[in-house]
Amino acid sequence: MTYHAQTRTYRLDPHQPDPEILRIAADVLRRGGLVAFPTETVYGLGANAFDADAVARIFAAKGRPSNDPIIVHIHALAQLEQIAVAVPPLAQSLADTFWPGPLTFVLRRGERIPPNVSAGRATVAVRMPSGSVARALLQIVELPVAAPSANTFSRPSATTAAHVLHDLNGHVDVVLDGGPTTIGLESTVLDLTGAVPTILRPGGVTIEALREIVPDLQIRQSFLASDEQAGASPGMLIKHYAPRATMLVFDGERMAVLAAMRSRAEALIAAGQRVGLLIFDEDRQAFAGLAVELQVLGAVENAERIGAGLFAGLRALDAAGAQAILARAPGRIGLGAAIYDRLLRAAEGRITHVS
Ligand code: TXA
Ligand code: MG
Repeated sequence: MTYHAQTRTYRLDPHQPDPEILRIAADVLRRGGLVAFPTETVYGLGANAFDADAVARIFAAKGRPSNDPIIVHIHALAQLEQIAVAVPPLAQSLADTFWPGPLTFVLRRGERIPPNVSAGRATVAVRMPSGSVARALLQIVELPVAAPSANTFSRPSATTAAHVLHDLNGHVDVVLDGGPTTIGLESTVLDLTGAVPTILRPGGVTIEALREIVPDLQIRQSFLASDEQAGASPGMLIKHYAPRATMLVFDGERMAVLAAMRSRAEALIAAGQRVGLLIFDEDRQAFAGLAVELQVLGAVENAERIGAGLFAGLRALDAAGAQAILARAPGRIGLGAAIYDRLLRAAEGRITHVS
């Protein structure tokens, strides 16, 4: 299959994806091409997980460093044995509860999965997505599909087909447009290869829900950095999910945070910068009269809605030409943990604690 393809986009009804279009996409995957498709979390950039050359094209298309491993997507539990070995019983019981859905397991890699999928590691990440287009595609292709988020490396993930095309037009063979994704945040990545199950990335399945089944669950600290860690060594946080603009996150008591954000915005505007604000419904009033680009994500207690709109909000502020984006951190319970993690990474650890 030729690469640097002419990208073909097909619109699909997510409730009733047209099998003819799915067959075209499955055929592209079988021939070693790249297909971007919606999952319930974000759009994925898929290739046949058994085909090392096809997987190499994913890295090239995204500009992704070869040391960053990729998640393999399946539609049936029986596929696990083609992908992983020594699967612990805990994976089975977690799958019973959370699959299909936004939970990824890191397991021991099986022989059929080429090393580049896992960036040379002895492990492999696997998930069974619940999004209807993803499921239908995986069923028809009958192959495990390796797929990172369908964005250029380090940019915000894509939650619409337009985002995918913005980043990857000409670098992907087919884009399946199934509308905006529902969760809008990536899956929770849970490492089951160590002595204690460890969350590597908070995501669509909450830590609280996992703790009900895995009481001894640990959280890798660099992913959900504590206030002190983030303040002490912001450079530790790898730039990820980032807008072009300089991102600044403010955390602390709401009224104090809003006052600090307003005065920072005023200072930036006075210095000639175009300022974007990523805020919650109830915060609008605090910025009345300021010449800023606004993205209002929803009520602060509505974490589902905030999560669903987060990456689109960052991309919209970029498109509006914002040079600095100021955001207020939400609480870290439930989906808030994943939202907080994405904001902190987009800001490369630049968080201002206000009290
Ligand atoms: O929701 C999602 O997970 C989306 C959709 C498309 O499924 N995918 C996604 O993929 O977010 P990506 O590549 O953007 O993020 C995958 C994360 C990265 O943090 C990567 O380091 C981690 O999973 N990961 C993948 N394989 C791993 C492995 N073998 N060991 C440790 N971490 C791994
Ligand atoms: Mg990604």
